[in-house]
Parts: sequence; C-alpha cells; structure tokens
Amino acid sequence: MTSGIRFLMCSPDHYDVDYVINPWMEGNVHKSSRDRAVDQWQGLFHLLKDCAIVDLVNPQLGWPDMVFTANAGLVLGKDVVLSRFYHKERQGEEPHFKQWFAEQGYKVHELPKELPFEGAGDALLDREGRWLWAGYGFRSELDSHPYLAKWLDIEVLSLRLMDERFYHLDTCFCPLANGYLLYYPPAFDSYSNRLIELRVPESKRIAIEETDAVNFACNAVNVDRTIILNKASDDMKQRLAAIGFAVIETPLTEFLKAGGAAKCLTLRVTEPVRVELHASATVESRVVRIDGHLLDSGLINQALDLIVDGGGSFQVLNFNLGEQRQSTSSAEVKVTAPSHEVMESIVSQLIALGAVPPPQEVCDINTETVTLPGVAPDDFYVTTIYPTEVRVNCEWVKVQKQRMDAAIAVSDTANGSTAECKVLRDLQVGDRVIVGIEGIRTVRKAESREQRNTQEFSFMGAGVSSERRVELVVEQIAWEMRQIRDQGGKVVVTAGPVVIHTGGGEHLSRLIREGYVQALLGGNAIAVHDIEQAIMGTSLGIDMKRGVSVRGGHRHHLKVINTIRRSGSIAAAVDQGILTNGVLYECVRNNVPFSLAGSIRDDGPLPDTQMDLINAQADYARLIEGADLILMLSSMLHSIGVGNMTPAGVKMVCVDINPAVVTKLSDRGSVESVGVVTDVGLFLSLLVQQLEKLTSPYRIAQTV
Ligand code: ARG
Repeated sequence: MTSGIRFLMCSPDHYDVDYVINPWMEGNVHKSSRDRAVDQWQGLFHLLKDCAIVDLVNPQLGWPDMVFTANAGLVLGKDVVLSRFYHKERQGEEPHFKQWFAEQGYKVHELPKELPFEGAGDALLDREGRWLWAGYGFRSELDSHPYLAKWLDIEVLSLRLMDERFYHLDTCFCPLANGYLLYYPPAFDSYSNRLIELRVPESKRIAIEETDAVNFACNAVNVDRTIILNKASDDMKQRLAAIGFAVIETPLTEFLKAGGAAKCLTLRVTEPVRVELHASATVESRVVRIDGHLLDSGLINQALDLIVDGGGSFQVLNFNLGEQRQSTSSAEVKVTAPSHEVMESIVSQLIALGAVPPPQEVCDINTETVTLPGVAPDDFYVTTIYPTEVRVNCEWVKVQKQRMDAAIAVSDTANGSTAECKVLRDLQVGDRVIVGIEGIRTVRKAESREQRNTQEFSFMGAGVSSERRVELVVEQIAWEMRQIRDQGGKVVVTAGPVVIHTGGGEHLSRLIREGYVQALLGGNAIAVHDIEQAIMGTSLGIDMKRGVSVRGGHRHHLKVINTIRRSGSIAAAVDQGILTNGVLYECVRNNVPFSLAGSIRDDGPLPDTQMDLINAQADYARLIEGADLILMLSSMLHSIGVGNMTPAGVKMVCVDINPAVVTKLSDRGSVESVGVVTDVGLFLSLLVQQLEKLTSPYRIAQTV
C-alpha cells in the first residue's frame, strides 16, 4: 500500500440488473451472476488495496446500482457535492451516501431538486488538480456545473456527451497522471473536442478506438503509474506503456451488463485541493420568451431541440397554454450553454424562431463601429429573412430593408434612431453595426391551424411530388396569380435556360403578354436561348418543333448573340423588327423590366447582360422590391441569389426537376415558400391551362 489515497467502494451483496436505464442494461435484466459479480468485485478490491486504502459503504437492499460508488457524489478536499440522480431507480441511494459522507466529516453540498448531477460519474478532476472536467447531455444537467465551480472553488470545463452508450463522462474519458488523457473522441460533440484539444496538448492525448471504448477501457482507475481496467487491446496497452503506465486488467464483465466497470465501482475520496486555483465556469444562462402556436405548430419542440442540438440545455420556467384553438401560448425558457460562444449561436437561432428577451430586460443593443470599409466587426449579428426589431434606448425599432445575410447598421437621426440591413460591401467607416444577440427580436407571424393545413397540402417538403399533387399546387398558384394581377400586385419570375429547352418559352411568353409578370430575372443564357428559338427555331441547336438537332446548330446561339450585339440591345432588336416573338420580346413589348446577371461561363455576352455582379445584385434587389410572389423556374443560382435578398412575407414558388434545389429554396423556414418538383415546361403549360380555366372572382362579382 502506498500514499494516503483512499477510495470508496460498496460490495455487490444486492447487485443485479433490475431495470434498464442505459443501453448496456437492455437485454441483461436478471442476466448477471451474483457469484461471478462478487468474484470480479473482489478482484478489483484487492488490486486497489495494493495501492490505496479502500473504505466501504454499506450496501442497501433494493438499490442494486449502489455498487457504483462513483455516482455517490463529487469530492474535493473536505467538500462533497452529493449526487442527484436523474432516474428514480437510483434516487434512493442518495440518503445512504449522504449519511456516509456526513459521518466521515465531509461538508455535504446539495443541489436544488430537479437538477440532476451524477457525481464523479460525470465530473473528473484533472489529475494535476488544475480544473474539473464535467459532462452533461444524459445524466447531469449543464446547469449543475456553476454550482460545482462555486462550492469546490475550481474551474469547470463542460463537455457534452453525444453517444448514449457513453452516458457518463467516466465511460469515455479518463484523466491520467502527468497531464495525460485517455479518451474516446467520438463520444463528444465537436465543440467539446475542441475544448479538450485546447487544454491537453496532442502529445498528452491518448485517443482510443471504439473496440476498446466498448470494453470500458476508459473506465479506468489511475493511481500514479498504474491503470486498472476491465480490458484493453494490446495496441492500447503498448501506447500506455510507452509513456510509462502499467495496465492491469481485471475482468468486470458482470458489471458491464449494468453499464459500469472499474472506475464506476470506485470513488476517490481523497482529492487534494490546489489552494492557488479558484472557481470559474464559462457556463452562461439567459431567459428567452417564445410566443405562438407553440404546441400545434411544434414551435416549442423546434426551439428546445435547437437548444440541445446546439450544445446547450434548457429549463422551461413557465408555460402559458392558450386554451382556445385560435389562441397562442407563451413560454419562458432558461437556456444554458457551456460558453458565451455557444450561447450566442443558440440564441441567434432562437431569435430567428421568434424568441424575444423577457420584457424590459434589455434596453440597448450592443454596437461596434466599422473601421475598415466593407468589413463588419467580428461578432456582428447576421440577419435573417424575418422582419426584425432592435432595441435602442429602450424602444423597439424596426429594421429597414430586411434581407438575410446582412449586418444591421443603426444611426441616430433628428427623429430618433433608425436601423437597416446592409450587406458587408456597403458598410462604411463609422457605421455602427449591431454585435452579439442582445436586444434583437424577429417577428414571426403565428400561423393559424388553417394556414398550416393548406401549407401541408401545397408544400412538397423534401419529398418528390406526385402528378396529382403538382396539379393541385398549380391550381392554387394560378388562383393566386390571378388575384395578384387583378389587384395590381407584383409577380417576379426568375428563370433559367431550362425553361426554353423544355418548351416552356411559349407559356412564359404568354404569361408576360397577359400581364401576369411584372419583372423577369435571369442570366445571359435564358435570353440567348429564348432569342435563338425566336429567330432560328432552335434551342442550343435543337429544333424545338421536331426535337432533332440541326446541322451546325451548335453555332446558332453565337450567331444570335452577334445579331443582338449588332442591334445594340434586345429592345433595339425588337424595334428593328429583328426579334419578333419570345420571352424577351414580350418583356420589351409589354414594358416588363428585366435584369440579366452575367456569369463566368457566359458567351457573348448580350449587350443587356450586366457583367458587374454588384450592379446586377442591386438591379435584382430593385426589381424584387414590393413583390407579392416570386416564381423561381429552374435556375438554382439566380433563385438562391433572389432568395437571399427577399424578406419573409413574399410568397416564393420554386419549380425544379431536382428535389435538392427545391428543398434548398423552400427550406427557408418561412410559411410562404412552396416547392414543386417537376419538369418546368410541364409546370408552365399546366399553369397556363389553369389560368385559362379560371374566371376572376372579381369579374364574377362585377357581372352579378
Ligand atoms: N447502472 C448504472 C447506471 O446506469 C451504472 C452506473 C455506472 N457508473 C458510472 N460512473 N459510469 O446508473
């Protein structure tokens, strides 16, 4: 026996697998042998006695997992934080452990009720005593970590567990003497892995393989240069030997059936305090409020999932359930995150869901001044498509020119403060840009049950739509376009060249002619192919009537470009009688403005094509302004560009044969996007047919 190191163990007199509270116990209920368990436990007990003193706590009938004394609490010096078990199956162990600690003269700290923390199973001291690694995600709540920091006066580093097989930190993580660390990286999220890598230099990190991890090789007891564990591969033993550790294997298979091994069966009760170190925890909490049809629309689930997926944890402080079908609910949720960085990323996503700071909490946003033209301060708030308001001098100010992927610049004017979205390149030195997440809210319209139902019917989600469903959606879109036209609204079409290749050109031309389109956005290609078809009857050299390629046809589009270049512009070609039909012809004839944004692969380009992309973006933005509906027809690039500059509230219909494009565009999380997976030529012909069938409700009203 060496040193004065002490461990606490509990003999397995009442040990069994009686219930299932972790994946290892599944299929093992009453399948363990008590005799073998006793033998294996004795094996460990004697090994430990060779290098330390072992204290015993009395086993209790009815609490079979009490053998796992690691979960009794967390000891540092003469302080112990008692466990609060997550599962009721183990909660009865608490008073017995509490009594033992009290009798030994420890100062026992007890966490608030409903705040689970499972002791040294989820909290491991760096073996140099520099800090405490604390796990969360399954058994222990992140909110318990600040208590550990406070009571034990130590720095706490929070690690998030991701794999339910490794539900306690000590199942996949084992700090060793001399600053080494044995661990299984895939058990942690990427943020935690980064934290580990920041604290432990590569030469000191021993990452193990899954085959060792599932043998509980990380669930090891380390005393000086000795590591006691259930089983380890030769490779792992060699790696440990190379850095001076001797591995002693002792079979603990009966305990594996309950999800524990060497480390779980022991609790080190002599942990030296390093007096020069003091408490710190990066864990942050803040309260947000969410309103809406929280239950019906799944908004609350979405918010809570987002918190957990983002690496945080939550506590629902109160929930006011709307009682009527039409009434909304509201909830106050306390969000906890392991660091400021994680908190900001979670809360900015919650803001996009419509979460707001509790009333009166924040009086002002934080801003920083732009010092380099076109460059925002590091921590700038990135905008979404949702109407946004920001808190300035305790007032909510509406943000102008809402769009996504911009920064918000605020300025003081004679009539108070204003805020507007600015893309990076437009930022000027001296602009005050909002940083962080304080005092920002987005306004999300609460959808009614009815809206959600129609949305379900029309929204194709990620799925490929069936023929009939396409027809239904087209009916709806046609109806809507008719209404917009009759009310003098605005429909913008973004179109790719596929519209022409698939024979949709004549239908789109007709829509323009009949006043259904108020602006057309596209690239060089749609115009070139449209004009090629108008002048030569081919599209990329294919005869559009007969569907066969025309000899030498591949040169047609260049001939056409040349012709228009000679005219000077598309409009001039129309005036000169050179261009007499087609999509662009109709635009010119009907005074429908269009913008053609250039790209690296453009032939020509046509004189109308805007090759300065910043100008092209500005043109697009101008033409989109005030749109009620945007039809995106088979053009991924131009449609995504448009999507980014369009605020929520504008209905977007995205038609593409490729479901990925449709999902990408309709997945803005906004109620107003509809995706249709189909051939765009077919879609346009159905749309024209539907519009023909429709009689305007206003016209009926007039005739009656
Ligand atoms: N069956 C026990 C449980 O699920 C096993 C505890 C293992 N202990 C540990 N420190 N990993 O709680």
